[in-house]
Amino acid sequence: APHFAFKNQVLHAEDVPLAALAQEFGTPLYVYSRKALQDAWQAYSTAAEGRNVLVCFGMKANSNLAVLNEFRQLGSGFDIVSGGELARVLAVGGDPGKVVFSGVGKQEWEMQAALQAGVKCFNVESEAELERLAQVAAQMGKVAPVSLRVNPDVDAHTHPYISTGLKENKFGIAIETAPEVYKRAAQLSSLNVVGVDCHIGSQITEVDPYLDALEKLLDLISALAGDGIHIKHLDLGGGIGIRYTDETPLTPKMLLDNVFERLQARGLEHLQIVLEPGRSLVGNSGVLLTSVQYLKHTEAKNFAIVDAAMNDLLRPTLYDAWHSVEQVAQPAGQRPADAKTYDVVGPICESGDWLARDRQLDLRQGDLLAIMSAGAYAFTMASQYNTRPRPAEIMVDGGSYQVVRPRETLESLFADEKVLP
Ligand code: LLP
Repeated sequence: APHFAFKNQVLHAEDVPLAALAQEFGTPLYVYSRKALQDAWQAYSTAAEGRNVLVCFGMKANSNLAVLNEFRQLGSGFDIVSGGELARVLAVGGDPGKVVFSGVGKQEWEMQAALQAGVKCFNVESEAELERLAQVAAQMGKVAPVSLRVNPDVDAHTHPYISTGLKENKFGIAIETAPEVYKRAAQLSSLNVVGVDCHIGSQITEVDPYLDALEKLLDLISALAGDGIHIKHLDLGGGIGIRYTDETPLTPKMLLDNVFERLQARGLEHLQIVLEPGRSLVGNSGVLLTSVQYLKHTEAKNFAIVDAAMNDLLRPTLYDAWHSVEQVAQPAGQRPADAKTYDVVGPICESGDWLARDRQLDLRQGDLLAIMSAGAYAFTMASQYNTRPRPAEIMVDGGSYQVVRPRETLESLFADEKVLP
C-alpha cells in the first residue's frame, strides 16, 4: 500500500516514520493511515458515480470511532451486526437512514434499538427472526423495513471459514424457500418489504461469484414482482478482497460496471444497489507494529519472539492467514543473502500463537517489525487473553498523528472484578 512505504530506508505511515511512533507509544501498536481510508473510499465512490448505490461500511472490520467518523464524513452508511455497533454509529452522528442491520441472532433489545433509531433495513436471516421482528415492531407501533438475506448457494472460492454463501452455512434463507418467506413477510402489517440481501463470503478476488449470485437474486426479484412484492434495493453484501501478498482482487468498479450492465439488460436500473464492504475499505490502511523481544534458534526452527500475539492479531491462528512482515528499518531488497528463515511468534502460551511463518528476515533483538494489512479484523478481533492490555491505535494524517484509542491499562483489565467476602 502506497501510504505505508519506505522513505530514506525507513518504513513510514504517510509522512510519519513508524519508528518514531513505536518510540513514543511503545509496542505493540496499531497504526492507521487516514489517506489510505480516503483512497479506499474513493474507489467505491468513483465506481458508484451516477448510479443509485449506497455503500454501508461493514464496520465489524474496524469499528474505531475515528475510522467510523471518517467514513461518515465521506458519506458512508454502515452495516451493523449488533446493538453495540449501532451505538458506535450513533456516537459519531451516523445517519441511521443509511444503516443496514445484518446478523443471524438479533436479540429483542437490538431490534428495539434499531427501530427506535430508524435504520434503513433489517437483513432478516430466518423465519423465526422475521416473526420476532414483526412482534417487536408491532409492540412499538412501528413498521420495520426488511430484506431477506438469501443464500444463493454460490461458491465464493475463498477460505471455508469466511465463505458464507453455500447451502451448508448457518447464514441466510435458502433461495428456493425465499418466495414463501417473502409472502409471509408481506402479510405482516408491522413489516415493510423493501429489499433482497445476500453476502457470499469474504476476501473474494473474482467478480464471477458476485454475478452468479446477482443473476439468482434478479430472478427472485422478478418472481416476487409477479406476486405483487416490489423490491426497492438489492444488497450484495461485502466481500471484495485485498492484497495480502500477491492477490489481484476485483475492484469496486469491476463489480459495479458488471452489476449495472446486468441490471440494464433486465430493465432494472432503477434498483438501488447496496454494498457492505469491510476489509476492502480498511484492511490495507493499517499495520501492527511489534518489536523483537528474543531470537531463539532451535534445531528445527528460528523463532523471532515478538511482543504482539494472537490476542492482537488472530487471523494467522484462526485462518492460517498470511500477513506480510516488514522490517521497519530495513527494506526487503536490502536484506543480506544470509538472512534466516524465521517463524514470528508471540509470547502467549499456545502453539497456535504465531503471526508469520517461514519468513526471510535479518533480525536482531529489539528490531521493529510491521505486520502489514492489519487495518481489518485485527483490533476488532483482539482480546485480552493472558491479561494483555489491548494496544493503542494511532491515526496518521500527513505529517501528524493522533491517539484514537489509548493502550489499555493493566488496572482497567480487572477493575470491575470482585473477590468473595
Ligand atoms: N456483510 C456481512 C453480512 C458480513 O457477514 C460481512 C463479513 C461483511 C458484510 C463484510 O465483509 P468484508 O467486505 O469485510 O469481506 N474475520 C474474518 C472475516 C469475517 C467476515 C465476516 N463477515 C477475517 O479476518 O478474514
